[in-house]
Amino acid sequence: MSDKRLAIRERAAMSDQASQESTYTMGYSDDFQQMLDRRSAQTHAAHLLPHLKPGQRVLDFGCGPGTISMGLARAVEPGEFHGIDMEESQIGMARAAAQAAGHANATFHVGDITDLPFDDNSFDVAHCHAVLMHVPDTHAALAEVKRVLKPGGIVACRESIISSSFLHPGDDETVHAWATFARLLAGNGGHPEMGLQLKAHLMTAGFSNIQASGSFDFFGASEDVAFFHGFINDWFYSPKVTAAIVQFGLASQQQLDDWQARIDEWKADPGAVGAIAFGEAIAYKP
Ligand SMILES: C[S@@+](CC[C@H](N)C(=O)[O-])C[C@H]1O[C@@H](n2cnc3c(N)ncnc32)[C@H](O)[C@@H]1O
Repeated sequence: MSDKRLAIRERAAMSDQASQESTYTMGYSDDFQQMLDRRSAQTHAAHLLPHLKPGQRVLDFGCGPGTISMGLARAVEPGEFHGIDMEESQIGMARAAAQAAGHANATFHVGDITDLPFDDNSFDVAHCHAVLMHVPDTHAALAEVKRVLKPGGIVACRESIISSSFLHPGDDETVHAWATFARLLAGNGGHPEMGLQLKAHLMTAGFSNIQASGSFDFFGASEDVAFFHGFINDWFYSPKVTAAIVQFGLASQQQLDDWQARIDEWKADPGAVGAIAFGEAIAYKP
């Protein structure tokens, strides 16, 4: 099949799927949980931490299991911290983590970020990490976040840029595998390049004084390379994810098998490094 016909078929499969339903691509498996467990406010919300002060009321929307939330809650104690996520099991983990760490100021809620159960003008800061990339209606999400922020309140986001993420050493097939992941995200109603688009979306949503930046989650040490290799194997090449890729017509099983064999070669290379690229932004509600 020509590249052009393949692109048309992919687009048709994706828009068909996206119009029927949106699905959270990453799911809640133990494999993905291990990726979230590596996160903290210090490493993944470094762009926001200098803006946090004790006493502020903070919202972490799409908080997942709360590994980033813990450091945010600590930074604003005794101010109120609220985390919200649509998945009950994630909220259960976040509540347990807050209790274990003694963050009595932290409360976690099950709910949808496009319909927040909070009053207008009630938060000083709203934070999200790797969330807008999964929410189909970016405008609805940012409008709701703006509604609950006080005038002068801060929104802080960090979202992936899949087209700038890499495994090195790699080749065109490695790039094709990353692009296939991006198409899977898009097919589920997500936005694989959200990190590039944050500044524009925040502007459109009416936020001001936008400070955009970027950073990598970098897998450089051999144990980090081994972790990323295991994650790619266990998550991306899991039967559930590969079945969705094949079903959407994004890659054949043969291609997936070839790509999976290549990541073993990547891991075995003494010079192996890998990275997920992220765009970040801080902005203010006028
Ligand atoms: C990739 S995880 C990120 C979790 C956490 N922020 C982190 O970086 O460790 C994305 C989270 O967003 C949540 N999510 C996606 N769409 C949502 C929505 N519409 N409302 C609430 N939560 C949502 C998912 O349940 C998931 O826990």
